[in-house]
Amino acid sequence: MSNQGDRKIILGIAGLGTVGAGVVKIVEKHKALLAARAGCPIEIGAVSARDRSRDRGVDLSPYNWVDNPVDLASGGVNVVVELIGGSDGPALALAREALGKGIGFVTANKALIATHGKELAALAEKTGAPLKFEAAVAGGIPIIKALREGLAGNAISSVRGILNGTCNYILTRMEREGLAFDEVLKDAQALGYAEADPTFDIDGIDTAHKTAILAALAFGTEPDIENLPTEGIRNIAPVDIEYAKELGYRIKLLGVTQQTEEGIETRVHPAMVPTRSAIANVMDATNAVVVDGDAVGQTVYEGAGAGEGPTASAVLGDIVDVARGANGPRLGVPAEKLKASSPVPVAKHRGTYYIRLRVDDRPGVMADITAVLAEENVSIESMLQRGQAADGGVYIVLTTHETVEASVAATLDRFTKLECVLETPTMLRIEA
Ligand SMILES: NC(=O)c1ccc[n+]([C@@H]2O[C@H](COP(=O)([O-])OP(=O)(O)OC[C@H]3O[C@@H](n4cnc5c(N)ncnc54)[C@H](OP(=O)(O)O)[C@@H]3O)[C@@H](O)[C@H]2O)c1
Repeated sequence: MSNQGDRKIILGIAGLGTVGAGVVKIVEKHKALLAARAGCPIEIGAVSARDRSRDRGVDLSPYNWVDNPVDLASGGVNVVVELIGGSDGPALALAREALGKGIGFVTANKALIATHGKELAALAEKTGAPLKFEAAVAGGIPIIKALREGLAGNAISSVRGILNGTCNYILTRMEREGLAFDEVLKDAQALGYAEADPTFDIDGIDTAHKTAILAALAFGTEPDIENLPTEGIRNIAPVDIEYAKELGYRIKLLGVTQQTEEGIETRVHPAMVPTRSAIANVMDATNAVVVDGDAVGQTVYEGAGAGEGPTASAVLGDIVDVARGANGPRLGVPAEKLKASSPVPVAKHRGTYYIRLRVDDRPGVMADITAVLAEENVSIESMLQRGQAADGGVYIVLTTHETVEASVAATLDRFTKLECVLETPTMLRIEA
């Protein structure tokens, strides 16, 4: 921009928790840097949260305080920054109000975009309002920009990510210390790595929100959280982590969206990934995303997926983008051109599988197991029998050749009914 005149970005910040306070700090600390990069000053006009008296470690006295966050979309603010959270409630009301008035809307809220992304993108495109959500996926990693802009020349074949730091932290400690899931979860809560109510994280819902957004950007489909098969990490046992290691794998919670012969498959589940792959070596609370594009090949993005600084960094990137006037189709293609998601059912997934059974230690058991596998047309790649399981019987651990998930499901169902099988079998998908 050559003639800036007295143009200014005036922010209205809704939510002053971890991310909101982080954004205020960066706007104050990097005033000159941000103005140079944005081509105009970036200032805070008004702020909103629930409790006005709470000490947030930042001086809020220079800004107007607004009790109802929706009021931020009135009175001089030209970019609203929504850092409250939640798919509905004040976040959605504020998004509709701001975008409806043509006011820029920047958010870190994955639940909002995964649930109402198409509606909000359509509204933004109608009024010309910028809509940005870099911080909603993988925190500090600029994966939204990578998919929407940097990789725009590629047909994407797959996007796979470790998108939830809490789960990766828990799985890392289970592996390193040989601890049970519940033990590590308790410790993670005490250390602040997991929320008091960890459901969103450990049951894969947070990863599903982020994966739905990545699927939309990669494949031009509307974000579809309703039809996204989602499994978390509650049932991962130390024994599976041990066997995974022995077989050359590590267990990670993955969000996957990929083009297959059947269509687009999008799913969230724990998976065994080869120990030598880039994604297997992403440890602790770190996030990573691996993208395969037809022209670029494979690119890997890794960094902090949460926390004050990394998340605020992504929010500021969006604010500077808005100041610069970057305003293409909000979800990568115009909202009206987004395809219905029509996901491939997980039963049609083709892949290789790990199955662990606890069985009676007596002759004939192996024959019963292999008979079921043969009848269901599931061919075995490797099979191990291990000594006494702690709670009686022995473990049989097998991996399959490529097969369709419906066959694996039928096999597991029949295993469960065998007299010699002592507990519900464990199944994990293997991601090459
Ligand atoms: N934390 C992270 O590392 C991270 C990473 C990526 C994305 N995000 C996303 O960023 C957003 C904010 O997360 P956060 O961790 O900063 O959350 P947080 O620390 O819980 O802060 C939420 C803020 O929203 C305010 N708030 C809640 N309900 C409100 C209401 N009805 N009206 C007005 N204000 C309200 C709270 O006010 P009070 O302070 O007065 O209670 C608080 O300041 C969420 O969408 C989250 O998913 C967070």
